[in-house]
Amino acid sequence: MNASVDLSDVRLETDRLILREWQETDLEDFYEYARVDGVGQMAGWQPHDTIETSKIVLDIFMSGKKTFAVQLKENNKVIGSVGIEELSMVPGAEYESLYGRELGYVLNKDYWGKGIMPEAVKKVIEYCFENCGCDYLICSCSPANSQSKRVIEKCGFEFLTEKVRKLSDGTERTALYHTLHK
Ligand SMILES: CC(C)(COP(=O)(O)OP(=O)(O)OC[C@H]1O[C@@H](n2cnc3c(N)ncnc32)[C@H](O)[C@@H]1OP(=O)(O)O)[C@@H](O)C(=O)NCCC(=O)NCCS
Repeated sequence: MNASVDLSDVRLETDRLILREWQETDLEDFYEYARVDGVGQMAGWQPHDTIETSKIVLDIFMSGKKTFAVQLKENNKVIGSVGIEELSMVPGAEYESLYGRELGYVLNKDYWGKGIMPEAVKKVIEYCFENCGCDYLICSCSPANSQSKRVIEKCGFEFLTEKVRKLSDGTERTALYHTLHK
């Protein structure tokens, strides 16, 4: 079952980051990383060709209330997102009475390799377990996405299974599913 999530007025903090709801003024920062080749594709979406595309997605983030903007304290720039998504699969019969969610994340390419996403995801995991009633979380990546696999490992998830999953653009891709329990 999906745990319920509502990020209205939620603000989390880590050493380097503020995690908060998306707002209209984040549009330029969002488009800056969403238009770059090789970023969105790894998460299952195409680079944004115009800022209007980013505006449409930003509106979905704002109304959905389940996606954090990742803001860097040192310059106040929004450099990524962490979504507490609905489950794309239930790992097994024993999970059917449990509450879960699925995490997804993307980071501006200029900031890769500094441990920023593990720092953000660990905080979101804590939030899901302590504030959203989650019993477990899942997270998936493609077998070729070693960068995301490292984030998953650093955050304590364990490999569960390999499965074909449908992406937001309708295409299908093999995914390595991982779970983390409260
Ligand atoms: C996955 C992602 C969020 C990782 O964020 P991050 O903050 O860079 O994570 P880390 O700093 O912990 O780096 C993770 C791994 O990326 C690799 N890496 C580091 N710098 C890199 C760079 N400049 N370019 C490519 N890979 C790099 C390293 O293997 C690193 O693992 P290590 O710490 O064991 O060396 C980021 O790469 C990204 O946004 N990728 C595109 C979107 C995506 O894949 N989302 C997940 C979909 S499942």
